Amino acid sequence: MSFHALVIGANSTIAKAAIQQLENDPLCQGVFSVSRTVSNSEESLTRKTVWIACDYSASSIEEACKLISSKSVLITKVLICNGVLHNDTMMPEKKLEDINQQQLEHTLYANTITPMLWLSQLMPILRGKEPTQVAIFSARVGSISDNNMGGWYSYRASKAALNMLIKTSAIEYARRAKNVKLMAFHPGTTDTPLSKPFQSSVPKGKLFTAEFVAKQLLDIMNTVPMDNEASFLDWNNKSIDW
Ligand SMILES: NC(=O)c1ccc[n+]([C@@H]2O[C@H](COP(=O)([O-])OP(=O)(O)OC[C@H]3O[C@@H](n4cnc5c(N)ncnc54)[C@H](OP(=O)(O)O)[C@@H]3O)[C@@H](O)[C@H]2O)c1
Repeated sequence: MSFHALVIGANSTIAKAAIQQLENDPLCQGVFSVSRTVSNSEESLTRKTVWIACDYSASSIEEACKLISSKSVLITKVLICNGVLHNDTMMPEKKLEDINQQQLEHTLYANTITPMLWLSQLMPILRGKEPTQVAIFSARVGSISDNNMGGWYSYRASKAALNMLIKTSAIEYARRAKNVKLMAFHPGTTDTPLSKPFQSSVPKGKLFTAEFVAKQLLDIMNTVPMDNEASFLDWNNKSIDW
């Protein structure tokens, strides 16, 4: 069955690998790729992809959704890839004294509020009859029951809150858009700028390529049961405790 896809946070390394694989999928008719930065080279390199610039403010997300709606195509695969862990001015907190307001606010906006604004605005777009999978990139460290190590306060909290928002949204989606499956997805430690500073402690063979993770995710999306419940799944299609 042919389909259109929507990839949000499309400059993520894993997102770019997924877009490439969607481009090569004969069943995929087109990809809307949303990012803060859309370069001319990206626009000219891709055949099926329409790039949409968005600064992730509520109004910008609304504009992007209007544009996507105006194309009147059926979108049945959505990847929401946004996530920050560190940047030039912040690193994950190791101790309580490292907590600061700016880091908490910045991380929560990018990792929690941004995906949730999309889940809210996408509801009318995803109400079609065809089975539709929405993968929102979470992280195992967002599992409250799995937190034995501590630290990484902002990132952990942002992903735990994201997971709760996904669970809660799935309850409403089950009533109002029955053909939508929401998945919180943990890609595993993947070779991207996000994990760069921490890669030296990753055991050999446990650092995945973006291409591998993107393929795993797209395969999972093709086979995941459409059960009207939120799932928290890892790259190997194993459930993670919330
Ligand atoms: N790599 C890993 O080991 C690993 C492990 C567990 C979970 N994850 C999760 O996987 C997802 C993809 O990450 P990646 O590894 O591919 O990282 P990446 O290459 O560093 O991509 C960063 C992503 O975050 C978005 N972003 C950056 N700053 C933002 C901001 N201020 N507001 C909103 N969005 C912002 C980017 O969107 P633009 O396209 O707009 O730039 C892009 O989608 C993230 O959610 C991450 O938490 C990654």
